[in-house]
Amino acid sequence: MSLINRQIVLASRPSAEPSADNFKLVEAPVAPLQDGEVLVRNHFLSLDPYMRGRMNDGKSYAQPQPLDEVMIGGTVGEVVESRNDFFKPGEKVVGMGGWQEYQRVGAHQRGALQKVDTTHVPLSAYLGAVGMPGVTAWYGLVKIINPKAGETVVVSAASGAVGGAVGQLAKARGCRVVGIAGGPDKCAQVVSELGFDACIDYKQHADVKSLSKALKEACPNGIDGYFENVGGMILDAVMLRCNAFSRIAFCGMISGYNGAPIPLTNPSLILVNRMKLEGFIVSEHMEVWPEALKELGGMVATGKLKYRETVAQGIAAAPEAFLGLLKGKNFGKQLVKLV
Ligand SMILES: NC(=O)c1ccc[n+]([C@@H]2O[C@H](COP(=O)([O-])OP(=O)(O)OC[C@H]3O[C@@H](n4cnc5c(N)ncnc54)[C@H](OP(=O)(O)O)[C@@H]3O)[C@@H](O)[C@H]2O)c1
Repeated sequence: MSLINRQIVLASRPSAEPSADNFKLVEAPVAPLQDGEVLVRNHFLSLDPYMRGRMNDGKSYAQPQPLDEVMIGGTVGEVVESRNDFFKPGEKVVGMGGWQEYQRVGAHQRGALQKVDTTHVPLSAYLGAVGMPGVTAWYGLVKIINPKAGETVVVSAASGAVGGAVGQLAKARGCRVVGIAGGPDKCAQVVSELGFDACIDYKQHADVKSLSKALKEACPNGIDGYFENVGGMILDAVMLRCNAFSRIAFCGMISGYNGAPIPLTNPSLILVNRMKLEGFIVSEHMEVWPEALKELGGMVATGKLKYRETVAQGIAAAPEAFLGLLKGKNFGKQLVKLV
């Protein structure tokens, strides 16, 4: 009897805020393996904000997610069957398995699966702190902000998968680190568990002026580096507190992902403060991944890099968990547990 693979496909494209109707759960039998192929049972599925962009049909840095195909996504799992000499059943792997329970990887796609060592790093962390979000944090902080000890670094979406790592990497480099996050619980965790010096609850501030005042208190020496995950009012407020020669790494602008305009109010500050602003896509910098993963893996294994996970149970829960991520319902890395 063949295995049944439960999958989530993109059923339709949202015009603004996505809903559960944009997704469909389907079942398909797993076909027998051909020579060179590997069958992986996905254990965890990663949900990430970039998936919202892929649901659109418009021009972007990446191709849109095709309709009626399995949603794109990072996965970790276990090889359960192999007709490929390089992979053996029982080995743990990370890959781009998508929103489905099983993943068949062809002989020519060997690079699509990486073996991972779970002796000191839990399997799920390869989708978070020791995976794409961790490397994203590392790239924006180290290669764009390039902070010196004693400088002040601010990061938005600070309790999230990327933001939490940014702050801890900056602390390890001797910086004063201030987070911005939504709600008192997230802010408390950012300070007490992740070790930030302060965290501002942006939901307590109705306008740029109020948020900028809070930033002035938390950053008495101004802001030298800003890791941008959100955009809009938060960016405007941070820019008012940026020092001369400050650097902003543009990683994400989640407040605009559903199409709301997020204009920049004071672009003249870029000139006045001789600021450097640089956007990046982490998958375009594969050359830094080994160095970044070495530092991140070492820090997780030794307990120096802390992270939190929000785990939804079962493939059918993926759409709601994803919609929650876009609304800030996640606390740390959003995962779906499949096994
Ligand atoms: N450039 C790249 O290569 C790259 C790679 C990975 C990720 N990213 C970007 O990095 C950012 C963080 O990603 P992540 O995976 O770590 O996600 P995450 O921070 O774990 O989750 C997203 C968080 O964004 C915040 N948020 C959502 N809507 C918001 C809004 N309207 N205003 C303010 N905050 C809002 C929420 O936190 P609060 O409750 O605190 O509001 C939510 O928990 C995203 O913008 C993502 O697109 C970029």
